[in-house]
Amino acid sequence: MEAGSGLEARITIDVLATERHLEREREELRALLTRSLPRIPSRYFYDAKGSRLFDEITRLPEYYLTRAEAAILERHAGRIVEGTGAAELVELGSGSSTKTRILLDAMAHARRLRRYVPFDVSETAVRAAARELAERYPGLTIHGVVGEFDRHLGHIPPGERRLVLLIGSTIGNFDLPEAAALLKKIARPMATGDFFLLGVDLVKDVHVLEAAYNDSQGVTARFNLNILRVVNATFGADFDVEGWTHRAFYNTERDWIEMRLVARHSQRVRLDDLDLELEFAAGDEILTEISSKYRRSVVDDLLTECGFAIQSWITDEDGLFALALARRVD
Ligand code: AVJ
Repeated sequence: MEAGSGLEARITIDVLATERHLEREREELRALLTRSLPRIPSRYFYDAKGSRLFDEITRLPEYYLTRAEAAILERHAGRIVEGTGAAELVELGSGSSTKTRILLDAMAHARRLRRYVPFDVSETAVRAAARELAERYPGLTIHGVVGEFDRHLGHIPPGERRLVLLIGSTIGNFDLPEAAALLKKIARPMATGDFFLLGVDLVKDVHVLEAAYNDSQGVTARFNLNILRVVNATFGADFDVEGWTHRAFYNTERDWIEMRLVARHSQRVRLDDLDLELEFAAGDEILTEISSKYRRSVVDDLLTECGFAIQSWITDEDGLFALALARRVD
């Protein structure tokens, strides 16, 4: 009991995403679903089930991203913590915060661990991570924020000696102009000299890339299809989840993986809350995600353009994944 109440005293969670601007979300979804290539925003993957499926993806043999990034962190966390002097981690898109522990361990080891600020769209993920980490690190204060990148970054509590993390290839979900807009939004409230750690998946052999999004156990397919369940629940829609299949391929022109859902047969879908009815023919597709792959020069330019100076570029031994450590500059 004691330990439990002690834990709670160190945890604060601000839930901003509940004041959902459902009206805005409806209009956004209507605009996206009525395009010639209909789209569903990737953030709808992450209800409780989707977050669980994504965690399962990170352990798949074909999905090298998480392991490669963890390997970099295992090897370089001490140096990153020393070099930045960080006492506080702000993690954008924190999910289950598994890899974060490597950095938190290094900070605890350096006796410089004060606060962890996880920011994620999934309330279940933020709450679970907060509890687990409060338990694991005595004295650590956790201030979680449940919110969305486009609306709630300004609600991150102020702090000092910060290392801001955008790891796990989260930036992959944005195209280049969107990525630049996001990085500028992240940079704005940061103090000169604050550090930023960006995790990007690298351009590589197409077969390796495509296998990572077409795993043999079909977990990625289930993850992709789950977005239809979320849309059904959120917008009073009646997508038949069985009526769609998963498709993922590498777009070599844009350097990104595209995930799509393909209609198995012709069908009509009604979205009550949008007062919208859609017709799909067999083979029609809905784009559910892009996952951008980067080259070093692109990351360099992007960070420079957005108010950062890159300090180090660290890759795993196989050159699959990279962490860019940058400093906020004027
Ligand atoms: C969470 C955006 C990094 O793009 O690799 C994994 C999501 N989608 N498998 C990625 C994802 C399909 C993932 N990110």
